[in-house]
Amino acid sequence: MSRAPSRVVIDCDPGIDDAIALFLVYASPELDVAGVTTVAGNVGLDQVVDNALRLCDLVGGPAATTPVLRGHAGPLARALRQPDEPVHGAYGLGGVELPAAVRPVHPGHAVDWIADQVYDSGPGEITVIATAPLTNIAALLHTHPDTRERLREIVVMGGAAFAPGNATPAAEFNFHADPEAARYVTESGVPLRIVGLDVTRKALTPLTDADVLIADGAPVTSAAGRMLRHLVERYARRHKVRACAVHDALAVAAAVRPDLLEWTDAWVTVECAGEFTRGALVADVHGRTGLPPNARVATGVDAQAFRTFLMTRLLDRYGAHPDGGHASNPDLLTDQRRK
Ligand code: BDR
Ligand code: CA
Repeated sequence: MSRAPSRVVIDCDPGIDDAIALFLVYASPELDVAGVTTVAGNVGLDQVVDNALRLCDLVGGPAATTPVLRGHAGPLARALRQPDEPVHGAYGLGGVELPAAVRPVHPGHAVDWIADQVYDSGPGEITVIATAPLTNIAALLHTHPDTRERLREIVVMGGAAFAPGNATPAAEFNFHADPEAARYVTESGVPLRIVGLDVTRKALTPLTDADVLIADGAPVTSAAGRMLRHLVERYARRHKVRACAVHDALAVAAAVRPDLLEWTDAWVTVECAGEFTRGALVADVHGRTGLPPNARVATGVDAQAFRTFLMTRLLDRYGAHPDGGHASNPDLLTDQRRK
């Protein structure tokens, strides 16, 4: 018997990997998207909102009518810091120019809107997938505290428990951008799954997959491929590999297929004061604090299975080619046959 799709809110800051995450969300029948909420992060809020609208319109179908809402334009407790380097390129989408959105942003503030969704749904129905600084989600839990008991789960892309950071040596970008918010969410008592750099950096998408998507040529696959190519080029310059992490898409995969990852239960928090460690995720995996676990932290990932999952979903849902484009990627074809 197939399960009813989980009702989800996607809180994001597109951003290339947020864009791929949105494409994956709408290619996943296990998820029923209540709405897309936005927050400043990879780029400023106006650009993030515009990108989210354009991405949903490009996907079309139910995505074209999904409410897209404006959230916070920066952290609540400190000034907004945009990335030092423009990781995501022009428009925050690797210079890929999408058609202008044909509908306006949904009225109201993202935080109040999420609260309404949670109140209007049954207890334990709504899952939040957060792929951006946690400002909106912390504000939700603070200003509407009774949502805590009604949320099913928050799946967060953020942090680096045992791996180096990417914003600083200790901190991952989303947690570093608003550490107070990240700390508030981790200590809120809402069931939490954390998908951090510990796993996203182990599950790279190679340039060949970007090229397969570009060659497919359909509107979504081609946009996804061109954005991924931008990220791979940046990764190649910095890390000397022709592949890139697609952090936020792995968080979506974790919501749909948690079995693709290994999980460790731990009490976690986020450093807000450290001179060199601000925004660092601290995970007490050996129980030193004596505090009970408040999160499941992803510590391992089946990288090949994730790669196949992502590419198969994108090509099957959006691809132009009858064979779903698998034939042009021998690795994926092999995986398809193994299924
Ligand atoms: C996270 O930071 C952003 O740049 C990405 O979109 C992702 O959410 C990775 O550290
Ligand atoms: Ca993001």
